[in-house]
Amino acid sequence: MNPLNHVAIIMDGNGRWGIKNKNSRNAGHKEGIKTVEKIIKQSIKEKIKYLTLFAFSTENWRRPKKEIDYLFNLLEIFLSDKIDNLYKQNIKLKIIGNKNLTKKLTKLIKRAEKKTSKNKNLQINLALNYGSKDELINAFKLLKKSNKSINEKNFIQYLQTKKIPDPDLLIRTGNTKRLSNFLLWQLAYSEIFFEKKLWPEFNEKDFKKIIKNFKSIKRNYGSI
Ligand code: IPE
Ligand code: IPE
Ligand code: MG
Repeated sequence: MNPLNHVAIIMDGNGRWGIKNKNSRNAGHKEGIKTVEKIIKQSIKEKIKYLTLFAFSTENWRRPKKEIDYLFNLLEIFLSDKIDNLYKQNIKLKIIGNKNLTKKLTKLIKRAEKKTSKNKNLQINLALNYGSKDELINAFKLLKKSNKSINEKNFIQYLQTKKIPDPDLLIRTGNTKRLSNFLLWQLAYSEIFFEKKLWPEFNEKDFKKIIKNFKSIKRNYGSI
């Protein structure tokens, strides 16, 4: 049975769920928060140590301003209303991505990260304004500047995921089979599950089923 230490999720399909059920993409984003809470609880039950959630990509700025504003407002509400609850569950929150966000959000992020920094149960990495190509270019630049030799061990020190082991399992909901610029380096040997359900429809049972399948996979890493 494979140990499961780190799960990464591309939470896709909110917009389509919203249109189908409430005639509003934003209603789908709101509903998606409920799934986030369910998956966090189940991750703790499964004794998963790292959960990385893709919340907003560097490409998502191409969306209409109304939707972007709504998403960031939801995020502010999440960070201010849920942080005590995350803290009580012994969860450590870390944001990965470009942190050039609004003053208010930057402040909320700093506060949330600081408050939960010593927690040990589960680390949630929230990928916010995150793009893997940006992360890689930045890491190359920093490594070059450091004058250290160019090798894998030195390189990964400059990724935003330093100190975080690579994901064992990647799940993408929403019936789309692509990576959308998410953790391109870190997913080199992850097991990938594409899920037909839209993110707001995804639940603990679906998550448990994927974990069960994951555990029985033979992971070769190039060997036999
Ligand atoms: C994912 O759901 C959430 C974000 C990208 C913020 P989408 O908003 O991409 O939902 P669909 O894919 O349009 O249904
Ligand atoms: C990926 O979903 C980003 C997040 C889930 C935050 P998208 O819906 O933005 O991906 P594309 O544009 O369909 O590839
Ligand atoms: Mg999408």
